[in-house]
Amino acid sequence: AASPLDIVPVAGRIGAEVRGIALSGDLDPATVAAVEAALVRHKVIFFRDQDALTDQRHEEFAALLGDPVAHPTVPVAEGSRYLLELDSKEGYAASSWHTDVTFVDAYPKASILRALHVPEAGGDTLWANTATAYEDLPEALKTLVDGLWAVHSNKYDYAHALSAKDQQRQEEYSKVFASTVYETQHPVVRVHPVSGERTLLLGHFVKQFAGLNSADSQRLFSILQDHITKPENTVRWRWRAGDVAIWDNRATQHRAIADFGVQRRHLRRATVNGDVPVAIDG
Ligand code: SIN
Repeated sequence: AASPLDIVPVAGRIGAEVRGIALSGDLDPATVAAVEAALVRHKVIFFRDQDALTDQRHEEFAALLGDPVAHPTVPVAEGSRYLLELDSKEGYAASSWHTDVTFVDAYPKASILRALHVPEAGGDTLWANTATAYEDLPEALKTLVDGLWAVHSNKYDYAHALSAKDQQRQEEYSKVFASTVYETQHPVVRVHPVSGERTLLLGHFVKQFAGLNSADSQRLFSILQDHITKPENTVRWRWRAGDVAIWDNRATQHRAIADFGVQRRHLRRATVNGDVPVAIDG
């Protein structure tokens, strides 16, 4: 059915801007259902000019999409109940490809990211479509990953993902991030609970593949990540303060681009609880 929302795709395979709507906790059920449908279809949706969305309204809106959940290790943003502070002033960078919080069993189904202050230029975010990534794999690689499981942990090796400068920047942040260590296993191919699509579930929290040693794991991880993050599979968003991005965390990876030097980049993120991933064989 046609969506009641004004939706303008941003890239060919992932990402759309939704126009003419003010996000809040007061949206009617039909609009919420249309937002959720747009989210599953486009995987990341963008909203400009949401300056009226205060911390409290941000949390209230998140509650319309499910149960908002605080980050397991990072303290919530001051004055909020669930929001994660993402502030370059505090050493935060997130400049490597990941899916949010995959180191717990039932990791978030969606994240809602709001820009408070952005660099004059730079600091864009990229998202990748993990469903088309799976779909595009050669049959031999599909066969390899269909039954494969990966170990995810929040205590991962930043060195393989980040530049030397980002590593320094994130050193302090990572201490808090891994203050309690979580580890879990997920299928590499996850069946999306709403669309039924098969998606690749990887990203920088992957430590190793079950049954492979770390050297083989690293190489296979690189091969698969290269497929996921090829430009054809991605969308790039140039932030303005007041923008909101919502992504389907079951069908995407994302990363920020750390190209803005000492300028401030400040965002806040709400996440909504998800379910335990289901593999192809159930
Ligand atoms: C995130 O990793 O959740 C936020 C990405 C960003 O800072 O652009």
